[in-house]
Amino acid sequence: MTTTFHSRLAQSPVSSTFPAAAACLPTIFLSPADVASLVRQLGLARCLRDLADAIASDFRRWPEFDKTARVAAHSPVGVIELMPIADATHHSFKYVNGHPGNGRHGLPTVMAYGGLADVATGTPLLLTELTLTTALRTAAMSALAARTLARPDSRCMALIGNGAQSEFQALAFHHLLGIETLRVYDIDPAATEKLMANLRNSGLSVVRCTSVADAVAGSDIVTTVTADKTNATILTADLLAPGQHINAVGGDCPGKTELHADVLHAARVFVEYEPQTRVEGDLQQMPADFAVTELWRVLTGQAPGRQSPADVTVFDSVGFALEDFSALRYLAAQAQRLGLGTALPLVPALANPRDLYRLLSTTEPLPPAATRTSGERTAATRRRAEVV
Ligand SMILES: NC(=O)c1ccc[n+]([C@@H]2O[C@H](COP(=O)([O-])OP(=O)(O)OC[C@H]3O[C@@H](n4cnc5c(N)ncnc54)[C@H](O)[C@@H]3O)[C@@H](O)[C@H]2O)c1
Repeated sequence: MTTTFHSRLAQSPVSSTFPAAAACLPTIFLSPADVASLVRQLGLARCLRDLADAIASDFRRWPEFDKTARVAAHSPVGVIELMPIADATHHSFKYVNGHPGNGRHGLPTVMAYGGLADVATGTPLLLTELTLTTALRTAAMSALAARTLARPDSRCMALIGNGAQSEFQALAFHHLLGIETLRVYDIDPAATEKLMANLRNSGLSVVRCTSVADAVAGSDIVTTVTADKTNATILTADLLAPGQHINAVGGDCPGKTELHADVLHAARVFVEYEPQTRVEGDLQQMPADFAVTELWRVLTGQAPGRQSPADVTVFDSVGFALEDFSALRYLAAQAQRLGLGTALPLVPALANPRDLYRLLSTTEPLPPAATRTSGERTAATRRRAEVV
């Protein structure tokens, strides 16, 4: 479905469904409002299921991808990362940051955008928000890993860290695994308040806990999704019970962990892309020969997952570019179907592709932009005249 959509986009000067942007190649832009509308129209449960299926299907064809660990720029307060990946048809990238102290500036900890391009020509096909999408795809990935590794009779989950990602994690586990009870804890009571209000009519029974130990007690699955740029030990081995599955989401950058090393020693550990997780995951604490299994090998039947009901399993999640690739293609296909998005005049369609210079001519009309105000258009025209 997506291949047809993108090959059509790549071949035609403008898409038939999206609003036209004359004199530009057909890059489609999806805003946060577009993605929110897409999720509302399809339903969150369906989106999470579809995303988990799309990620599983792409993970099963793992060898077809040109993979690389993400490129990270660190500062004392956070990280900015670029996440590229490609198969024979599409290239995708995500820009994402992680700044745990951003709340002080009224900003989210995690913000993201990214795009999809046609490998055959390099044409950018889609530019989209990925902040909301990252929460969706991370939750779908977590639920996919748990569906593969957790005990099938799991019904109760501890959710440690009740920030921006937390509702998505809760609902993915509710809809995809049948989690009925959440035991929630955050050092910030306001975060837990917000989570409980948002999940009021979700069908989940939400129990407010007084500590990590209180939340973990009696839980079949433990999700840690905290943000702190430090080697935190949210979960220690003495809290574990036989058969638990740990979904460790927040330790995703050098010097930023959630699990005590003894938790990893006590468990069978599964990762997305080993070269990246060795540097970024809770795994960064372990020796280079500490055994882990890449999840795609379990999904393709090449490696065992959980081997007994008493196993403790850990999904040491850091977020891998392939999950965004799957999400971007899903967004593109659904936005096309629902008529969402705006044609973005990003790359000029030139009468003579070798005559780029002609674009500087003052007589050449600027490509119209659906969202540009007339004031901005005047300023842009003036800037262009100044350049010429
Ligand atoms: N693995 C992935 O694919 C992936 C994807 C997205 C985000 N993340 C990570 O997930 C984490 C959460 O992201 P977010 O957007 O929800 O951040 P957020 O800042 O909105 O929420 C984090 C919450 O963790 C709480 N917290 C911090 N330290 C805690 C502790 N010791 N015990 C309990 N709670 C604690 C904070 O009070 C806050 O409410 C971040 O570390 C982010 O980098 C990972």
